[in-house]
Amino acid sequence: MSNWSAKNPYMSKITESYVLNGKGSRKETRHIVFDLGKSGLDYKVGDALGVVAENPENTVDLLIQTAGWNEDHMVTTHNGERTLKEALKKDFEIHRVNKKFVNSLSGKVSSNGMRITVKLVERYRESIAGQGSDWMSGDSELESDLLPSIPGDDPAGRVESLTTDGDAMEDYIWSRDYIDVMNDFDVSYSPEEFLDIIDRLKPRLYSIASSHDAHPGFVELTVAIVRYSHHGRDRGGLCTVYMADEVKVDKTDVGVFMSPTKSFVLPEDKSTDIIMVGPGTGIAPFRAFMEQRVHDGGSGKNWLFFGDQSAKTEFYYKDEIEGWMDEGHLYRFTTAWSRDQEEKIYVQHRLKEYGAEVWEWFERGAYFYICGDKTYMAKDVHRALIEIAIEHGGMSEDDATHFIEKTMMREEKRYLRDVY
Ligand SMILES: Cc1cc2nc3c(=O)[nH]c(=O)nc-3n(C[C@H](O)[C@H](O)[C@H](O)COP(=O)(O)OP(=O)(O)OC[C@H]3O[C@@H](n4cnc5c(N)ncnc54)[C@H](O)[C@@H]3O)c2cc1C
Ligand SMILES: NC(=O)c1ccc[n+]([C@@H]2O[C@H](COP(=O)([O-])OP(=O)(O)OC[C@H]3O[C@@H](n4cnc5c(N)ncnc54)[C@H](OP(=O)(O)O)[C@@H]3O)[C@@H](O)[C@H]2O)c1
Repeated sequence: MSNWSAKNPYMSKITESYVLNGKGSRKETRHIVFDLGKSGLDYKVGDALGVVAENPENTVDLLIQTAGWNEDHMVTTHNGERTLKEALKKDFEIHRVNKKFVNSLSGKVSSNGMRITVKLVERYRESIAGQGSDWMSGDSELESDLLPSIPGDDPAGRVESLTTDGDAMEDYIWSRDYIDVMNDFDVSYSPEEFLDIIDRLKPRLYSIASSHDAHPGFVELTVAIVRYSHHGRDRGGLCTVYMADEVKVDKTDVGVFMSPTKSFVLPEDKSTDIIMVGPGTGIAPFRAFMEQRVHDGGSGKNWLFFGDQSAKTEFYYKDEIEGWMDEGHLYRFTTAWSRDQEEKIYVQHRLKEYGAEVWEWFERGAYFYICGDKTYMAKDVHRALIEIAIEHGGMSEDDATHFIEKTMMREEKRYLRDVY
């Protein structure tokens, strides 16, 4: 037993990190391998790995510069006493502004818009002067035209509309970090005041994509890197960008810990059939399940539903999957490539297409597993299961819902989910 945890993570190294997508893909999904070294960490298939990220150095530097702070200023955080730079790198989330910070602007901005408006007029004068215009500073007609022509420039008014209109707030914080907001409102905060408002850095969880029996001493993940660009700067998800860009293979120490599952487990009886539905990164635990089922050598059949945008660019673990099929370990493999034809084809469409067989498997006691997007995919797959029970099980809507949600899910615990 090891005592590594979110608060006391094991400092591992990434030994491999490569993109699984083919050329021309819109996505960047990586296979990432961590070395468990002498940590004593163990895991079973179905568990998740916790990863403790750090903020990118350039974002930390730009924030310190924008706020006019001294990076060596000593501060005390929930992790102890350290320099401001270290605190901003390791202890807090700085990549997206939180609502509390936007709310705190009320006490910081002046109640009339003169400061910003005057700045804009000055900028306007400079630009006109640069163009060799004969417009003279103090041209009262033009200035009075300009002043009211800049709507919403009253900072207090803008803050008020953000703090009283939930949609405006969501819209504003979606694309911004603290650097954007400080620049937008020209406000100043002491480091202590700032650290008191922002959120503590939270570890991220990843479904483990390997069996420890097949990869002793290592743990592997399938990670979709979150990247986007707003207001002239490239940015992205804290942990995925950290793993993809900041961590140097075999060099950087990365904090990890295990997050074991009690429920998302393989059937104890190795002769039980299983159906696995894992589009996108949802395939991760099913690569692990397949490795474990091959290692354990039971007689249960395995049926995998996988899909993503295109067979050309998102056929993750193709060689392994084809190997399992050739060797008879993967009894059925059903794909749903959503963008390889006009109309979208998703895993739930395939499930329904093979509804009669899926129902036969259910009747024979098969387990059903789903992993991936919780918001849309998992709900649609859930609905497809109810429809299969109606169509192929001859049940009423109520009975089908009861069978899927109560019998299979709660009582028999053979409809298991790892959705996020
Ligand atoms: C049990 C569990 C298992 C998981 N397994 C996996 C897995 O196997 N593989 C995997 O890849 N992930 C998995 N996840 C998700 C993972 O934990 C992270 O949530 C994910 O990697 C994003 O983390 P991040 O720190 O990079 O992004 P964050 O910093 O947390 O940012 C993500 C957020 O960015 C925002 N965002 C997205 N696009 C934009 C945009 N264009 N503009 C502005 N904001 C945007 C969204 O609000 C999104 O929620 C799992 C989650 C759980 C709970
Ligand atoms: N809750 C979350 O925060 C969450 C959960 C999952 C993924 N994500 C994010 O989404 C990005 C990519 O994730 P991913 O690579 O795992 O793949 P994904 O976006 O979940 O897509 C995988 C496949 O599912 C399809 N799909 C879209 N809507 C669906 C639906 N309602 N039912 C069934 N299938 C559906 C997609 O098709 P189309 O794209 O062609 O429509 C694609 O073919 C990442 O940035 C990841 O972080 C976030």
